[in-house]
Formats: sequence, C-alpha cells, structure tokens
Amino acid sequence: MNKESAVTQLLKGYTKEPQHSEGSFFAATNIALAKYWGKRNVELNLPITSSLSISLGALGTETSIYLQASNATEDVILMNKKRVDNDSPFALRLIKFLDLFRFVPARYFRVETSANIPIAAGVASSASGFAAVVGALDQLYDWKLPKATLSRLARLGSGSAARSFWPGFVEWQAGSEEDGMDSYGIPIAETWPALRIGLLLLDTDPKPLSSTQAMQKTVLTSSFYELWPTKQMADLARLKAAIATHAFTELGEVAEANALAMHALMLTASPPILYSSPKTVEMIHKIWYYREKGLNIYFTQDAGPNLKLLFLKEDEEVISKLFPTLVIIAPFGANKAVL
Ligand code: PMV
Repeated sequence: MNKESAVTQLLKGYTKEPQHSEGSFFAATNIALAKYWGKRNVELNLPITSSLSISLGALGTETSIYLQASNATEDVILMNKKRVDNDSPFALRLIKFLDLFRFVPARYFRVETSANIPIAAGVASSASGFAAVVGALDQLYDWKLPKATLSRLARLGSGSAARSFWPGFVEWQAGSEEDGMDSYGIPIAETWPALRIGLLLLDTDPKPLSSTQAMQKTVLTSSFYELWPTKQMADLARLKAAIATHAFTELGEVAEANALAMHALMLTASPPILYSSPKTVEMIHKIWYYREKGLNIYFTQDAGPNLKLLFLKEDEEVISKLFPTLVIIAPFGANKAVL
C-alpha cells in the first residue's frame, strides 16, 4: 500500500471539498522517553516497535491552511511569517505531503506555519509540524476526524507526529497490520504535575542527516539492531509502571538508558552516525556528575546534539542555576516557556 491509498482508505466517505476558506490548528511537539527507531514500512512510516512520549504542552507548531484561488499555480508556504522557497527541503517535503490532500480538481494551498521550537534540530519539530498540518486540513475540509485517524494521517508525514494529538504521555502502538491501520497514538490518562522537562539547546542548526536516513542506516547495517525490539518492549513496560506510580528515578533511568541505547546503535551502523557534539558530551558528563552528588536528574536525546533534561519541580531552582540557558517545561502545568 502507498500513502495515497492509505489516505483514500482513511478518508472514505468524507468530503473532498473544502468547507471553509481556512483551517487552523496548534499541535504540541513531543519527546520520546522510549524511542521510535526503525521502520517496518518506510512508505507508511510504520515502526518496528511501539514508542512512548511526553507532550511539551505550549511548545509546538501553529499552522493555518488556506485554499488559493483557482488561478494559483503553486503552493505558498510561510514559516514564521517568511516566504519559504518551494525548492527548499522543508517546502518539498511539505508540498509532497499536501499533494495527498489536494484531491480533484487540483488546487494550491497557502500554508502559514509558525513554530516556537527550532526546526530540524532534534527538538521534534516535524512531529508538531505534520500534526498541525493534518489538524488544519481537518478544519479546512470540516471532516471532524477522530484523533486516532488524525494520528494515522500525520504518521504518513512523520512517524513521531502520530503522538502529537494529545497532552501528557502518549503511546504510539506499532501495530502489525500491513496497511498500518492499527498503528496510531493512544493517550495514557495519568497526569504528573511535578514532572519537568528542560530543553538544553546546544546547537539549533538543521541536522546533516535526517532521522529517516539515520534510522534506515541503523536498521540495515547495525548488527546490534536485532537486540533493540526486545529492549524496547522491556523499557516500555517499565516506563508505563513508573508513570502509573510516579516513580521518577525509574522513569529517568529507563528514559536515559533507552536514548543511550539508540545512540549506541547508531555508532554501530556503517558508516557510523554520531549526533552528539563535544558540547553534548560535556553536558552529559555534567549531568552525571551532579547525579553522582545526589541530584535527581536524567536526560534524553533525539536525532540531534541537544539534550532534554528530566527532573522534578522540587529540583527546578537548583537545576536552572546549574543550566542557566535551560528552557523549563511543566508538561502538566501552566506552561509559560516559549523560546
Ligand atoms: O518522526 P521522525 O521520523 O522525525 O523520527 C523521530 C525519531 C526520534 O525523535 C529520534 C525518536 C522519537 O521517537 O521521536
């Protein structure tokens, strides 16, 4: 099955005529505590394993989509109010995704998107980006799709976007069906007001190797990859138990070890992949140094050099002094953190 047929199946019975002149949607980005690393189907972004994330609440992407007049000859894309060149990698990826929702007769869109997170720097901007596009299309066409369907559609743009339709903890179940209809996000009802995430932004330049490329290289060339699904399953079970009982140390240990295992796998790919910069390594040592001294602090890292720190409200003051540039997010509380 290709993306076009997946969209046809998911939108069967829904109108293909825009019902409004505009559709707008905000999607928060999410950070995986048990990572998605490896696709069983590259076309449909179907993962080899399930994954589990936490939403970043107020950090994400707001997107408005307008249908242009019938004489328009191309999509117009604005990112943070600036026109994006339609030949840029960002626009090409977005236009290809919009093609799935153009229907007949083909019409062009105007897309205005603004993100309060750095794009493509391993801060999961594609997760909120594709979720916001799908949410905006849902408004434009007035489909009122269930979130599980929005999640399946957003997955076709970027896997991690499947987890961006809910606040708090979300599990993206891998599913086993070939068409991926059983692969979408499922929210975990638990809230944890004392939990904090700290964004330690070390380098916000776009990454040289996309997560899709890095994933494929790892799956195809690392002889250790076969160990990943078993570890991931055990980590998911431990994380869910830690969330249910608010066992922070367990959550931090599992999340950090899971991220390190993902990066270790990448080092064993051929050629090897290393997203960490010298600054990343320095900060990891700093985190471990203070943890050794008794501070309850852990980290996770995605496909980029930046780190996301995990800690509790009670340590917020101490940690913000140790890491003065930290952007602190309360995923279950009033969230004023904006970059
Ligand atoms: O959704 P993608 O294709 O950008 O992949 C995301 C990969 C990680 O961020 C490293 C892990 C995850 O589960 O979000």
